[in-house]
Amino acid sequence: MAGEKVTSKIGCNCKLYEQIKQEQKEADKTRMKRIFDDNSLINESLKKANFKNFEKDRFPAAYKTAADYVRNFDLADPANLFFQGPFGTGKSHLSVSISKALVALGYSSVFISLPKLYTKIRSTYNKDSEMTEDQLMQALFKVDLLVLDDIGAEGETKGWSIGKAFEIIDQRSGKHNIYTTNLSSDDFESSRDTA
Ligand SMILES: Nc1ncnc2c1ncn2[C@@H]1O[C@H](COP(=O)(O)OP(=O)(O)O)[C@@H](O)[C@H]1O
Ligand SMILES: [Mg+2]
Repeated sequence: MAGEKVTSKIGCNCKLYEQIKQEQKEADKTRMKRIFDDNSLINESLKKANFKNFEKDRFPAAYKTAADYVRNFDLADPANLFFQGPFGTGKSHLSVSISKALVALGYSSVFISLPKLYTKIRSTYNKDSEMTEDQLMQALFKVDLLVLDDIGAEGETKGWSIGKAFEIIDQRSGKHNIYTTNLSSDDFESSRDTA
């Protein structure tokens, strides 16, 4: 309109914008934490595991690998990590730590103990189950990082169980994954021969 003075603010109210962005980030982190808590299957002894309570001098190389994995995590550049070694060498502890550290950065991740997953999948076959196997599996296929812990534990190296593990690994190709196993390469070879 002629003669009317119009003032408009160029740019943004940066402080407010920053505050909204920060709140959004916090909301995302809370959501990611819920995804981790609701879907992870973790042994009781590992529930409190994190980078802080890992004694790095006991397994310095593994610690560095795990810390680097978090530092270099990039959705556009998927990377897998494979922890292989004897029982009690911190593989699961470090994997839980990575998963939690990434959740705290706003990524979605779940930690799955495979023996626990097999029990849970079997429970979905019960007709009273609230969840179908497909719903359970879909949650694992979508996350930014999946940890599959204890591949081949309890002699579950053939038949139905290994089939399930391969199904998940196959669906997860092209995404970030961490796999752990107490089996040696020779154990894998012999389980393949007898499968
Ligand atoms: N370097 C470490 N610092 C602190 N606790 C550790 C360390 N390594 C292993 N643990 C603890 O010892 C137990 C066994 O470790 P875990 O990560 O489950 O071994 P793995 O998966 O290699 O069999 C867990 O309770 C874990 O928290
Ligand atoms: Mg373990």
